[in-house]
Amino acid sequence: MSRRPFIAGNWKMNMDHLQSIALVQKLAWTLKDAKFDGSSVEVAVFPPFTDLRSVQTLIDAERFTLAFGAQDLSPHDAGAYTGDVSGAFLKALDCSYVIVGHSERRQGHGETDEIVAAKVQAAVRHGLVPVICVGETEAELAEHGTSAVPVAQTKAALAGLPAGTPVVVAYEPVWAIGTGKVATPEVAQEVGAAIRAAIAEAMSDEDAAASRILYGGSVKSGNIAGFMRQPDVDGALVGGASLDPTEFAGIARFPDHVGA
Ligand code: PGA
Repeated sequence: MSRRPFIAGNWKMNMDHLQSIALVQKLAWTLKDAKFDGSSVEVAVFPPFTDLRSVQTLIDAERFTLAFGAQDLSPHDAGAYTGDVSGAFLKALDCSYVIVGHSERRQGHGETDEIVAAKVQAAVRHGLVPVICVGETEAELAEHGTSAVPVAQTKAALAGLPAGTPVVVAYEPVWAIGTGKVATPEVAQEVGAAIRAAIAEAMSDEDAAASRILYGGSVKSGNIAGFMRQPDVDGALVGGASLDPTEFAGIARFPDHVGA
């Protein structure tokens, strides 16, 4: 089973809609100049909601081989939910993906495992592939070890999903996000394998084999190769480094430096 590597850029609350156009253009041109093979590695951007229409229009008009998605969605489809954004609206903008359960939302917005699971269901209802973020804090790492929290969060997020539903899971140790502290490739592999086993348990062996598992947390062009050499790491969810198109293109071009 070969999984197409997935390099995803989570812009967080950066870039207004005008800046988003410049960033996507520069990213696409940089990849093109480098003769990047967009069919062998999938590259996706996750801009703020307010940028999505501009990003969609640009990618569509220029036929860039870039995917895009949103950083969050409502667990509800429509109605009196001030400030929420429905998965239906994201699908109408051609989003392929939506990030669910990022630790910045679990921690800063009180998103529980139940809320995350409801958002995963909402994404799937609207034909969006959820990029489900899991990961332990430094305190949880000390108390429970490496895999326990990410595995429990994965199982909770996948609860009730029928076999055959496409999902992406991103292992993002909270202590590695935006800190410059990076998990070792060996730890990413250990947790990636444990997450894959959790997908098999929650869904099926076929789903486990087909699902892409990403590592996230201070990924840069200089450290991506070590992660991509791991059999259970199929890509990266990149925060800070995705705001620099040259650096992000360098991460997407990991096949150029992963060998050796
Ligand atoms: P970082 O963020 O690459 O800036 O550490 C990763 C993320 O939060 O998805």
